[in-house]
Amino acid sequence: MLILGIETSCDDTGIAIVKVSGKGPIFKILSNIVSSQIKVHQKYGGVVPNLAAREHLKNIEPCLKEAFKQAGVKPDEIDLITVTTGPGLIPSLLIGVNFAKALAYIWKKPIIGVNHVEAHILANWLDNSKNAKFPAVALVVSGGHTQLVLMTGFGKYKILGETRDDAAGECFDKVAKLLNLGYPGGPEIAAEAAKVNPKSCTLNPKLPRPMIKHKNYDFSFSGLKTAVLYLVRDTKDINVPALCKETQQAIIDVLIEKTIRAAKEYRAKTVILSGGVAANEELRAQMAKAVKKELPKSYILIPKSCLCTDNATMIATAGYFNYKLGAKTDWRKIKANANLRIGQKLS
Ligand code: KG4
Ligand code: ZN
Repeated sequence: MLILGIETSCDDTGIAIVKVSGKGPIFKILSNIVSSQIKVHQKYGGVVPNLAAREHLKNIEPCLKEAFKQAGVKPDEIDLITVTTGPGLIPSLLIGVNFAKALAYIWKKPIIGVNHVEAHILANWLDNSKNAKFPAVALVVSGGHTQLVLMTGFGKYKILGETRDDAAGECFDKVAKLLNLGYPGGPEIAAEAAKVNPKSCTLNPKLPRPMIKHKNYDFSFSGLKTAVLYLVRDTKDINVPALCKETQQAIIDVLIEKTIRAAKEYRAKTVILSGGVAANEELRAQMAKAVKKELPKSYILIPKSCLCTDNATMIATAGYFNYKLGAKTDWRKIKANANLRIGQKLS
């Protein structure tokens, strides 16, 4: 089965063609085109929704052509069209959704609407070597989302906790902005942090670990950003790499503490890490170590770094599972929903 994936929820235009075969099933990425808008939004230090929509409109058709060229297939060979319907920025979502609906109408193909957060989780199924056992606890950490999700099967999700203000990726981006580092901030902060000699450099005072001891599974990262702001304001000659390392560690400590606690409470057989922030090497390594130590009978799934950030292969994968679960495939029924929540039925 050949699946076309379309992703335009934020600032990346993604078009992918994924082949699904066998009982396993086995996923094979035939093409994965991502047109990044970093240069457009860089000078604003964050995504400007209307500019993002304009760029999607410009890039989506060339990306589609390139995806078919690289995959070496023709439109009439496509069995299913899949598209992100939410959550995300509505001007961006509308471009992908209407483009996908037009393709479904013209090509007379079934189409499935996909939840972007679910797609981040299901990106893990693109690695055919490991499969999740349920129940699983999934941490989704990106620029727009920070959620801990209990997954008891495909299509069976319960949000255990989420951020009350900024997402983890947003915190990386905002701290990078106030330190005059580039956008997106996550890779910039990580690169600065990696410059620190672990023996010779510590930041004094330490930054807070917001809500780490709260009994619930919610997060809050806006106070951390404010703590960095005051530290920068009040400290002469601040050590930027040490500050970046401490910021990164504060975020990681909270994410690990809450994920491990949730995994223990819900007896998770698998811990799933996903979303753009899951590309962070320290988070990947430290979460894997914590799972091994605290949950020796469980194992961890993390997508390849390049599949953590927004792309359309994950949309095709999630679309496939929803198709198998009997989701609606009529283009007239597909609607963008900026506030779509995981576990909520797609209209
Ligand atoms: O999943 P994603 O591509 O888009 C959303 O759905 O939001 O995530 C983008 C976020 C940005 O905030 C970016 O700074 C962060 O992921 N990110 C990272 C790293 N790579 C991307 N954060 C920390 N470390 C990284 N290596
Ligand atoms: Zn995302």
